[in-house]
Amino acid sequence: MERLPGFRDFYPEPLPGNEPWSCDARQYIFDTWRSVARRYGFREYDGPPLEPLELYTNKSGNEIVGQLFNFIDKGERAVSMRPELTPTVARMVATSERAYKKPIKWFALPQLFRYEKQQKGRLREHFQFNCDIFGEQANAADAEIIALLIDSLRSFGLTAEDFVLRLSSRQAWQGFYEARNPDASKAYEFYQVVDKIEREKPEISREKLAPLGISYDDVVSFIQKSEPTPELQAVLDNLAARGLSDFVKTDYGVIRGLAYYTGVVFEAFDRKGEFRAIAGGGRYDNLIKLVSNGKVDLPALGFGMGDVVLLELLKVRGKLPKFSANLNAFMMIEDETLRAESLSLIQQLREGGLLVDYSLTPTKGDKQFKRAQELGSKFTVRLEKSDTGTIAVVKNLQTRQEERVNPSEVATKLKS
Ligand code: HAM
Repeated sequence: MERLPGFRDFYPEPLPGNEPWSCDARQYIFDTWRSVARRYGFREYDGPPLEPLELYTNKSGNEIVGQLFNFIDKGERAVSMRPELTPTVARMVATSERAYKKPIKWFALPQLFRYEKQQKGRLREHFQFNCDIFGEQANAADAEIIALLIDSLRSFGLTAEDFVLRLSSRQAWQGFYEARNPDASKAYEFYQVVDKIEREKPEISREKLAPLGISYDDVVSFIQKSEPTPELQAVLDNLAARGLSDFVKTDYGVIRGLAYYTGVVFEAFDRKGEFRAIAGGGRYDNLIKLVSNGKVDLPALGFGMGDVVLLELLKVRGKLPKFSANLNAFMMIEDETLRAESLSLIQQLREGGLLVDYSLTPTKGDKQFKRAQELGSKFTVRLEKSDTGTIAVVKNLQTRQEERVNPSEVATKLKS
């Protein structure tokens, strides 16, 4: 029985066959994401993986709606697996914002589902680091969320030579559109053409722009100029004060495909342009109002960073640590008459918080030693009978040095 296309198994390392995804790497990415978000004062939340279909239709935009894993449940409800978290968090904030002081700063690590064509950097499920701020209109919030995105990538050892954030502005594009076409109902159609312009053949973009009364060359020249709006300049100045200017550039080639963005928008890419977007986000000041049917009106902004492209990039740049069971000790039981005493010591060490493993059944000494090495154990511990009682032989597997100590001192030895 094979797994579905675009879905992943997460094995522990070392990985079997050509499997690229390990649970160790996933945990490392989650731990790093969590620690950066907390450094910025963000609190963790989550929502349901299954939502009413209606939450996505008309809010996220056509592209994502075409990719929904949706179905009718046994209660005749039209439902969908979540393709993104933003509509969910907008609903949560709209429902409960009064219980929280503003600005609300929240992060989450949801698994998301999109029925996409499986390709490099795009699968049918992925984990996405979401960080959002609610209730802050000032550009200081845009700069804060962008700094958090930069620091999230830096925390994996990536530098300004590895990635860049392309900053843009929906407002700038809105101004561009309104000056050329008074029909506001077609604006999103135009944004979608701009969103695809880099990947599309010029003739096709030209053809799509013609009925909107907009010239391709006009769009290309606007992108080439990419003159920062005052709001974008304020964000750039804020980032410069933090010494983060090297990580960003103004680039109107980015506009974001999702429908709800209203202000500063951005995407993170690898510098060499070999991969799909690592992360994307921006301001979406109208979504909460839309989700709450006009009852709550709160400005909002944030980003999502997927684990798929991130891991591909970390691998290629050699930034992933080596993963193993990371045991503190492997208990070697070579003399079976000492098994009970060994179990007692193992129990005591584990209760003390140490990571300890051993052979469940009688096994040759050399096999036990090999296993200790495979598991990346720092030490082996072996009990031995002596004239004065039982003693423990603690061996450091890196230096190969052995020390004989009283069994009660093993924990302290391993921790030192
Ligand atoms: P998005 O651009 O659709 O934005 O996704 C954000 C990131 O998730 C992408 O840059 C990419 O790394 C990853 N991603 C998206 N789809 C896939 C896929 N099929 N396979 C692998 N990775 C994928 C959003 O989802 C917005 N809701 C983000 C946001 C949060 N905006 C404001 N707050």
